[in-house]
Amino acid sequence: MLVLRVPGDKSISHRALLLAALGEGPSEVRGLLDSADIEATARALRALGVPMPPLDATLVVVPGVGRRGLTAPVAPIDCANSGTTARLVAGLVAGAGLEATLVGDESLSRRPMRRVAEPLRAMGATVELPSHEGLPMTVRAAGLRGLTWHSPVASAQVKSAVLLAGLVAQVPVEVHEPMPTRDHTERLLEARGVDLVRDGAVVALRPNGRLDAGRIDVPGDPSSAAFLLGAVACGASGALRIEGVAVNPTRMGAVAVLRRMGLSVRLEGTRLAGREPVADLVAEFVAAPLVGGTDGHGGAPPALVGVTIGADEVPSLIDELPLLACVAARAAGETRVTGAGELRVKESDRIRLVVENLRAVGADATELPDGFVIRGSDRPLAGTVRTAGDHRIAMAFGVLGAVPGNAIVVDDPSCVAVSWPSFWDALDACHR
Ligand code: S3P
Repeated sequence: MLVLRVPGDKSISHRALLLAALGEGPSEVRGLLDSADIEATARALRALGVPMPPLDATLVVVPGVGRRGLTAPVAPIDCANSGTTARLVAGLVAGAGLEATLVGDESLSRRPMRRVAEPLRAMGATVELPSHEGLPMTVRAAGLRGLTWHSPVASAQVKSAVLLAGLVAQVPVEVHEPMPTRDHTERLLEARGVDLVRDGAVVALRPNGRLDAGRIDVPGDPSSAAFLLGAVACGASGALRIEGVAVNPTRMGAVAVLRRMGLSVRLEGTRLAGREPVADLVAEFVAAPLVGGTDGHGGAPPALVGVTIGADEVPSLIDELPLLACVAARAAGETRVTGAGELRVKESDRIRLVVENLRAVGADATELPDGFVIRGSDRPLAGTVRTAGDHRIAMAFGVLGAVPGNAIVVDDPSCVAVSWPSFWDALDACHR
């Protein structure tokens, strides 16, 4: 059986650096993702006075400066393509009572920042946004007050920004979400002695002065693993073991959907890395493998089946929807995704781009206001895909393009550096 690993989880890597930097002493971070997005968070911390060493997936020792150790940046902080950096650092700056301007690349500059500006303003910060409510965003604060925030969007970034602001300013905060989102910030805070009360989609931070330093182990990224699972579902390597993947329940939606589509995925050796559950994912094709190059009439029937994905599931698979859409293009029948309007404000408008690109390569896809409908087939797919610099669009169509018989060109393969610089090698390994 093919055995692979995926890089460290992106969400946990951002939080590991931020919380380690705020600790009262050095913290060892192992398994960190070394990619452009995490570099953006490291750069932001350097700008805020933290002497961050270079990123290293094996070991980074972050010299914690303590909650009061951050200093005002002398220039705008470049968050590049990273929404998590922009929103979480906004919370940090507000909590520390500093002034900073956050800027980013063209894609990030368009993404909505009001969702994080509003709660920070309600805590007493001044947050200036341009008329389109993206970046540049200037945050200025001196002494925040506590907050109970009912977030209109299910966003782990918004929740985490408020928690970080409360933590750094040592004021109580409570966040109510419309649906529970990934809880990595909460797990890391709890592991470091911070007092949280959690109940479903509600989390409250009660300041207790603590943020312990110490070791953080970053598990493999389930959002990256999903691309390899998708490759197996589309007929690559018969069986695949991906070692050491985060299996936090808030991130397991894509595994659940791929199972419904017909892929067998087992979790083996489930263990804990700090407070995060980790397992090996073992994926196997149980149905007849796909045969590429048939005309869809009389060829081997697709082994996968289309599925329905609704709003309840969306937070647990939001970043995997481009990949699931590409797998759906190879599944029998219709796949319908609704309740996923948030996809329009990711690194690109992922609803529009997924549909436009699926059509460009000859697949049957329809755009909905908050999702899409895809009718799969085993027809060969060919054409050029426009990524708009979006790493997950590039990887999703890379998986579809690697299916024997398909001929898909991704216009900007290098944009995978945002979350997985060696993605193309891993995909090749699945097809060897
Ligand atoms: C993330 C949360 C999600 C996700 C993003 C990473 C995080 O975004 O799409 O890739 O690390 O908190 P939202 O918080 O905007 O839903």
